[in-house]
Amino acid sequence: MSQLKFPDGFLWGAATASHQVEGNTTNDWSEWEKQNADRLAQEAQSKFGHIKYWERLRPEAEDPMNYISGEACDHYHRFREDFDIAKSLHHNAHRFSIEWSRIEPTEGVFDEKAIAHYRDVLSALHERGITPFVTLWHWTLPLWLRDKGGVASKQFPAYFERYTRHVVGKLHDQVKFWIPLNEPTSIIAGAYTTGQWPPQKKSYITAYRVYHILADAHKRAYAAIHDIDPDAKVGLANLLHSFEPYHEHSFFDTLMIRFSHFFTNEYFLRLTRGTHDFLTAQYYFHNRFKFPRKVHLGDKPINDLGWEIYPKGIYNILKELAEYNLPIYITENGLADAFDDQRLDFIRDHLLWIHRAIAEGVDVRGYFYWSLLDNFEWDKGFWPRFGLVGVDYEDQERIVRKSALFYAEICKNNALEIKGD
Ligand code: BGC
Repeated sequence: MSQLKFPDGFLWGAATASHQVEGNTTNDWSEWEKQNADRLAQEAQSKFGHIKYWERLRPEAEDPMNYISGEACDHYHRFREDFDIAKSLHHNAHRFSIEWSRIEPTEGVFDEKAIAHYRDVLSALHERGITPFVTLWHWTLPLWLRDKGGVASKQFPAYFERYTRHVVGKLHDQVKFWIPLNEPTSIIAGAYTTGQWPPQKKSYITAYRVYHILADAHKRAYAAIHDIDPDAKVGLANLLHSFEPYHEHSFFDTLMIRFSHFFTNEYFLRLTRGTHDFLTAQYYFHNRFKFPRKVHLGDKPINDLGWEIYPKGIYNILKELAEYNLPIYITENGLADAFDDQRLDFIRDHLLWIHRAIAEGVDVRGYFYWSLLDNFEWDKGFWPRFGLVGVDYEDQERIVRKSALFYAEICKNNALEIKGD
């Protein structure tokens, strides 16, 4: 056995997002779910019938209630218990998001009880020696803002700045790391390019506009946070894809990759250049292009959602990010694996590649597995299980998975044990 050491002070933890874990939120998604649950349940077989454990997962995926976030993990009430688990697993950092619809349920009216709740959440983390990374917007919108056009509204950056100033003004003494926006490109793709997520408005023109609106929102939030706390560290949670042409020398496959790479990995960073204290990587997808579409090769390992598992992709991404010369945190990386038979290898193999990037000089400073808990996976509902910790939604029991214990050893030792010298 030998040990691969990570840099001193490396942050180890997991991430969550308000709508996916808290329970009882009222926002654009919670309303959309009610209207779409039956349809999503009916479509499940055609979307996921090919996956390995489909027959076991199918009853849940075909139940319309699976698509209603409802009580979720009741993390809103159980955060202390959940953070006890994170601490017992030797996490020293945790990423979570603040639910805008709780803070500003009515336009311009801020709920101080909601702020007090998040102060309690932050205190609970600090009491356990866990460094918080706080996301201000993880996709959900208060209903009043949905009605004004949401992220497609020209006013969005101004509304976001007002909300940011309020939250950061109240919480800055407890937070050093802020992430204004989670994965702008996912929302642009989900809501406006493919038209599958609320508000399901498929339009390339709107998608293009939303890039600029969200970039402006990020820049205004960056400035606002630094106005309030010049020492704060601000970064964007960015979904980054790994790419591979089907035919190595195909002009058209390579062209597709250039185009897709530009709009997923690069464009938003370009639009917001100069307003990042750190960069992030959120890595889930390895895309193989055979002109004119993506292909899935039957012999590659996939997770419960059919997404290819390709650990080297994270290395490719980190090497690209290194060119920006900023510290990097991996703020999401994980998989849906209901029976926990791939997660341990997934974590080990991704960390091997991350370690290789660090050894080659890339300044990676932390890793947050997605997710601490099983949770509500947006338009797929509860059946995909991403958690280090399983959740029994009948009684909210938490079940620590064996992969979580494996990850805990890494967090404790700040090192990965590998076979051989
Ligand atoms: C999102 C999470 C989501 C995860 C898995 C990320 O893109 O930030 O909210 O649950 O992917 O799909």
